[in-house]
Amino acid sequence: MCGIFAYLNYLTPKSRLEVLDLLVTGLKRLEYRGYDSTGVAIDSPDNKNIVMVKRTGKVKVLEEAIQEHFSAGDYSEPVMTHIGIAHTRWATHGVPCERNSHPHRSDDGNGFVVVHNGIITNYNDVKTFLAKRGYEFESDTDTEVFAKLVHHLWKTHPTYSFRELVEQAILQVEGAFAIAVKSKHFPGECVASRRSSPLLVGIKTKTRLATDHIPILYGKADDKKLGPDQDSDSGKPQVLPRSESTSEFMPLEEKEVEYFFASDASAVIEHTNRVIYLEDDDVAAVRDGTLSIHRLKKSLDDPHAREITTLKMEIQQIMKGNYDYFMQKEIFEQPDSVVNTMRGRVRFDGNAIVLGGIKEYIPEIKRCRRLMLIGCGTSYHSAVATRQLLEELTELPVMVELASDFLDRNTPIFRDDVCFFISQSGETADTLMALRYCKQRGALIVGITNTVGSSICRESHCGVHINAGPEIGVASTKAYTSQFISLVMFALVMSEDRLSLQQRRLEILQALSKLADQIRAVLKLDSKVQELAKDLYQHKSLLIMGRGYNFATCLEGALKVKELTYMHSEGIMAGELKHGPLALVDDSMPVLMIVLRDPVYVKCMNALQQVTSRKGCPIIICEEGDEETQAFSSRHLEIPRTVDCLQGILTVIPMQLLSYHIAVLRGCDVDCPRNLAKSVTVE
Ligand code: F6R
Repeated sequence: MCGIFAYLNYLTPKSRLEVLDLLVTGLKRLEYRGYDSTGVAIDSPDNKNIVMVKRTGKVKVLEEAIQEHFSAGDYSEPVMTHIGIAHTRWATHGVPCERNSHPHRSDDGNGFVVVHNGIITNYNDVKTFLAKRGYEFESDTDTEVFAKLVHHLWKTHPTYSFRELVEQAILQVEGAFAIAVKSKHFPGECVASRRSSPLLVGIKTKTRLATDHIPILYGKADDKKLGPDQDSDSGKPQVLPRSESTSEFMPLEEKEVEYFFASDASAVIEHTNRVIYLEDDDVAAVRDGTLSIHRLKKSLDDPHAREITTLKMEIQQIMKGNYDYFMQKEIFEQPDSVVNTMRGRVRFDGNAIVLGGIKEYIPEIKRCRRLMLIGCGTSYHSAVATRQLLEELTELPVMVELASDFLDRNTPIFRDDVCFFISQSGETADTLMALRYCKQRGALIVGITNTVGSSICRESHCGVHINAGPEIGVASTKAYTSQFISLVMFALVMSEDRLSLQQRRLEILQALSKLADQIRAVLKLDSKVQELAKDLYQHKSLLIMGRGYNFATCLEGALKVKELTYMHSEGIMAGELKHGPLALVDDSMPVLMIVLRDPVYVKCMNALQQVTSRKGCPIIICEEGDEETQAFSSRHLEIPRTVDCLQGILTVIPMQLLSYHIAVLRGCDVDCPRNLAKSVTVE
């Protein structure tokens, strides 16, 4: 959801065309987050102006426009120091169009230009304040008010530094945001900040950095707000608090340096693996090649410095390789990603499991009143998939909650609750809000995420990193199976000392050791699934039925079909058939049923008979060699036998493949389905 990419080269000569190339590549890496329009801003060849190009649609369209726009003028001349900013927009305020695309500008002269993610919730108040001072607005966005506010502050406080101007503007805005600002009046400088929306700074130097930390500089400021009651119609000039940074620490100073500001690491990894994850209300400023990080107010638990972290990610992980789509690549990566989730944690020889990130909290978790698993979409489904096993192995009540609904209900939460927040991106707004809600009420917060340094990671007391590797396709696939395994591992840890459960644990551990090979076997069904997709892709609907450990697969399969193919699909609990959904079944309704040899097999067979006796001809997912079940339909997919609680990992893969193939046949954009974003950072 929206992507920021900014590039600053200091004493490292680059032509503007090279800068544009870097900006466009950065945006391409962020495409997977979901967006509907794009834009860039760089300096004009005479350095007297800022040139912007914006387009509705894909980055490719912007790239073509850039080639056209910058063919004239001397954009190939190298410049020693320059800052370019770029953005992918996911419309929230105002329809997707060039006028609403970022960067947004402060005035006709492009004095300040801003790229922004998130929502400024008090933008109407700020807009009213600025309109009274003669500012005219050209877009429907909340972002534009920020650019104009910085301009207003610059006019009224001409001695302020660029960083101070942005700091003052940030004091006036509410909501969630990440921003990067460029200015004609402060050439070669960039100021960026965040609040509840991710932003990192990548640092590239010729030699290894002398430090692993950037000290934080604190200012003095009170929270004086602009607003209708304070706009100075009385004629009195607006006086804003000024921050005065103390310089007891030296910020990062390098002779030749390049900085990258980005919404996530996949946009910078090809340039550098040294990054700083900014915290809420950090203001990062680069001036004369020097990076400094400021905070307006110091609180007791603030650290003295921000750490420079080394990314473990490899560039190959964010490239498509020989696959046509990221989603396809990620489906086929699952034999490896599930092993990576277990690596260093599961010892198959000693039947032992250690989850380093929560080890110290296990005694406290064992004493808790109940476990709550909270997430959205696919992440929520991983909770549904593992709930039964968690109930069995922890012997605790387990509640599974959709983050949005959980918040709507003001669900009671107690100090002795343990709340798990499951999120691939670690930035989903609903999940993050639910986390903060539970944290305020004293619950123990456990994060299950795939993104190191994400907000959910940082705000949790402890957690499990699922290690699935970057997931670029908007539709989640490998993150689901890795979340699933992380929760299974947690259940196994919780039951370590329960004698009565040892046989069951052993059975699960043995099954885990075979999982990667079994996933490979399921992936071999690909061409068979593609044939089934040919039967289905022109239909309007697909019903997916199952129960027990496979109900989550029905929900997840239906979500994949909906989001990728825009076909209607519904995951149906087979036990509910007679209570309504059976009315949908006839000889023309496409149905897929999961019928495996587990404790609910007889009940599933019963459902299968109900469907076939209404002339339904379902596709069946069943176990290898199960002729009795296969006799009910000529179309079936056979999967290897595994322990009941892990079946969901093997049954979801044919569903991922099926939705993928239907999407390709229907000509849909597999990696970026319409209206969807990878990281949903607004509620
Ligand atoms: C579906 C999908 C979404 C996400 C949901 C939560 O394929 O990807 O349903 O699962 O938006 O996202 P995370 O896991 O990042 O919190």
